[in-house]
Amino acid sequence: MTPLEDRAHAIRAQGNLPRHVAVIMDGNGRWAERRGQPRIFGHRAGMKSVRAVIEAAGDLGIEALTLYAFSKENWRRPAPEVQALMGLLRRYMKSEREELVQRGARVEAIGDLDQLEPSAREELDRLIEATSGCERLRVTLALSYGGRAEIVAAARRIARAAVAGELDPDALDEAGFARFLYSPHLPDPDLLVRTSGEMRISNFLLWQIAYAELYVTETLWPDFDRAAFFEAIEDYQSRERRFGKVMA
Ligand code: FPP
Repeated sequence: MTPLEDRAHAIRAQGNLPRHVAVIMDGNGRWAERRGQPRIFGHRAGMKSVRAVIEAAGDLGIEALTLYAFSKENWRRPAPEVQALMGLLRRYMKSEREELVQRGARVEAIGDLDQLEPSAREELDRLIEATSGCERLRVTLALSYGGRAEIVAAARRIARAAVAGELDPDALDEAGFARFLYSPHLPDPDLLVRTSGEMRISNFLLWQIAYAELYVTETLWPDFDRAAFFEAIEDYQSRERRFGKVMA
């Protein structure tokens, strides 16, 4: 076995794996700038890391992976960068489709998907459809995503249901609220990974990360490979989660 296979084996043997890992993929721009290249060069390189992390999560037996691919705020970047990112995403969704099916990755998306360009939306729908029978790993792409917007959208749907007499406001509890969020079928993330050293949440999964363990690494996203993902998981395995309680 190679050292990386040994490591994967040891991680699996230890158990105590996160069921759901969420990732803020940051640092593509800086990675490119350090090489004197345009920012899009970094985003392109970042796609390799997306592949590596999906493979690694599947191999470890992690159930769900949510990737922050494009935030609502990202629309405010210069138009050429937004265009290039949309083009990259479209190409990724097309070129990786077969590979994702082979890997058993079921792809879904959260966010304001109506904002996507029609051609990107079509590729996304095709990818979702092609992988809909896959069961090994659930991959959720956050696209045009904002955590506050998700909570507001849920509140809006709840208010409508209450007005229609389908929901009793006094009976609404946390679990009832969460059923109106974008991905009610996923467990909350156990681990939130952020690359490139920034200590921020950036409007990602605000409701769902209430008890997530945070892991921030200085590694820039294009350098985040299989070994880097294993390191994040090993770090998680060494922690004691208390969910606000005291351990006996
Ligand atoms: C943050 O880096 C990254 C993004 C805004 C986009 C993430 C996109 C990818 C990794 C490309 C492919 C994704 C998928 C799911 C196929 P940044 O530009 O904010 O970097 P900086 O902080 O160094 O400027």
